[in-house]
Amino acid sequence: MATAPGSGSHGPMASPRVLRTQVGIIGAGPAGLLLARLLSRRGVDSVVVENRSRAYVEARVRAGVLEHATVELLEEAGVGERLHSEGLRHDGVHLQWPGERHRLDFVDLCGRSVWVYGQTEVVKDLIAARLAAGEPLLFDVRDTAVHDVTGDRPRITWTDADGTATELHCDAVAGCDGFHGVSRHAVPAGVRRTWERTYPYAWLGILADVAPSTDELIYAWHPDGFALHSLRSPTVSRLYVQVDPDERIEDWPDERIWEALARRLATPGWTLRAGPVREKGITPMRSVVTEPMRHGRLFLAGDSAHIVPPTGAKGLNLAAADAWLLAEALAAALVDGDERLLDGYGERALRRVWRATHFSWWMTSMLHPATGPGADAFDRELQLAQLRYVTSSRAAAASLAENYTGLALDR
Ligand code: APR
Ligand code: PHB
Repeated sequence: MATAPGSGSHGPMASPRVLRTQVGIIGAGPAGLLLARLLSRRGVDSVVVENRSRAYVEARVRAGVLEHATVELLEEAGVGERLHSEGLRHDGVHLQWPGERHRLDFVDLCGRSVWVYGQTEVVKDLIAARLAAGEPLLFDVRDTAVHDVTGDRPRITWTDADGTATELHCDAVAGCDGFHGVSRHAVPAGVRRTWERTYPYAWLGILADVAPSTDELIYAWHPDGFALHSLRSPTVSRLYVQVDPDERIEDWPDERIWEALARRLATPGWTLRAGPVREKGITPMRSVVTEPMRHGRLFLAGDSAHIVPPTGAKGLNLAAADAWLLAEALAAALVDGDERLLDGYGERALRRVWRATHFSWWMTSMLHPATGPGADAFDRELQLAQLRYVTSSRAAAASLAENYTGLALDR
């Protein structure tokens, strides 16, 4: 982070502190942090600004399944060590509906696995690596704003944690500030196009201090609603139940959650172990895609441009794929002076985004029955027919496995 000429005093009433870097990155989630790391490995400087505290960002419980290519990327970024020692390789998943549980063997079906390693851990590793390298990562900033993205000298402004107004001049701005960030809004409404699907259900998720009752994830269809048994470690389980989107967490005491999980996940000869709930929350389910992902010198990556429902475990992986595509493109432009990859960034990223959007919608549609009075019996039979097909046809199972474990990054 260089200080540009003209900077100097920066008291409350003084002109802003002026900094200069090659890529200004807004947001220290997986997209922003991984992008910063990959850029650094390619000799490109960046500054990352985050409006939350480090403690908050590191504690935010999110997804936990890493595609094969995401694992390789994290290795490339130099943060593969803890992932390999503490993460768990999973070679398949279980799909079930009342009375039947079937395992899909990913390695057999498509030659790839996934890794279970919490997004919080990925974020902690990336933050630690960035700070250890002495590279700029500023937490607790306020009033982040993006300026002049259609010119050659885009800027990001913010107020630092200590109240200093700061202006960052850069060659490119990466909007990695998630769904509620400011970057997306720097693309004028007349240029921006949004596709959206809101699903009529939500997930109530818990993190529990109890050994997982399964060695691989269980995705369960049940007439009461979907349930998922996931995990974080040999002593921590992560579980979800489908609920109505307007459900209140106060109405779900722990016993009610465990009871719903036990009923929906039940299968002959298997029992669910319950334990203390450390964390719980309700997540709405939606798909959102925004275009373009590039506007002038502003590039969107991750949740700032697209959201998927969690069923296919794609959110974190899409953020990582965007970060890689953007790092390659920015390095080609800023190191080699070749702008072609930057010109193609949006189109390449969106091709993958729409594939994952389809897969997430498909998994979601197959596994979540309408519940309550008036539930569509026809839809339920279609869901069960699809589940039977996916667990009995090698071609159908291979398609799920290929999408779940993820496409190669350059596809
Ligand atoms: N200024 C600075 N930082 C901001 C601002 C802002 N105005 N607005 C938001 N942020 C920060 C958020 O606090 C967050 O840390 O940007 C970061 C965005 O991170 P994520 O929401 O984790 O998004 P992304 O990095 O794209 O990762 C996507 O996260 O939401 C999950 O399931 C999703 O797994 C996927 C992944
Ligand atoms: C999780 O472990 O949080 C998880 C796993 C699989 C999903 C979604 C979330 O599809």
